[in-house]
Amino acid sequence: MNDARPIILKLGGSAITDKAEEAKPRTDIINRLAEEIKRADLDNLIVVHGGGSFGHPTAAKYGIKDGYKEDPTQKFGFAETHHMMTVLNGLVMDALIWHEVPAVSIAPSNCFVTENCKVKFFDETVMKNMAKLIFTPVLYGDVVFDEKLGFTVLSGDQLVAYLALKYKAQKIVIGTDTDGLFDCDPKTNPEAKPFKKLTLKELKDLQPKLGKAQGTDVTGGMAGKIAELIPAVEASVHVTITGATKGLSIYRALTDQSVLGTEIEKA
Ligand code: IPE
Repeated sequence: MNDARPIILKLGGSAITDKAEEAKPRTDIINRLAEEIKRADLDNLIVVHGGGSFGHPTAAKYGIKDGYKEDPTQKFGFAETHHMMTVLNGLVMDALIWHEVPAVSIAPSNCFVTENCKVKFFDETVMKNMAKLIFTPVLYGDVVFDEKLGFTVLSGDQLVAYLALKYKAQKIVIGTDTDGLFDCDPKTNPEAKPFKKLTLKELKDLQPKLGKAQGTDVTGGMAGKIAELIPAVEASVHVTITGATKGLSIYRALTDQSVLGTEIEKA
């Protein structure tokens, strides 16, 4: 029986896919991340990954995030977006299984229902049984049914915060394509300065100023991600945002070692 409070790892879509091109995975990075997860050897890890260029373009094309507008092509768009996510999830699972991580995927569209884009219902039966036997559940940003909107997109970030609150997570590690949060976009501005530490208050002040993502992003770019994470920080869950595209930052962050990135604490 595993009673340990979980560590929740988000693998951002910007790290595991090339957001500039539709449905382009970064398989070398996915493989290295699986190696880091194996090396960290945690028995209380929950992995959540984003959609990147697999989820966002299809979701945007059919307006899935804003709900069902009685347009039958949207139903195909919902199905296609979910399918694209299962394809990306398959690549993540391939890498984890290859590295002998006992990872099993859980499709959020099958066990989460939202109301106005916020989680209203979660069937945790499978998740609980996985925790008992020390499996590594792998979830992902997905299309979900919504009691008010018909359907919507549930981001990996909202999933991370929801699971962190529900299971009183020890910490959240977010792997992205930059070494943490910066005062402006480090990809376009070489003068961008990283934030090493942020309190909840500083994070809230910063949130509206955070930039838009590169490429299509139906879940609001970095500002949207931070908005989703704020409830977890409010509940005193420590959040580390670090680079997942190179080095060993994910392994280091998972095993409580210092990393280049942003540490977020309630106070
Ligand atoms: C988006 O999930 C999922 C879909 C668009 C279906 P996220 O919002 O967590 O994905 P990334 O990390 O920004 O790519």
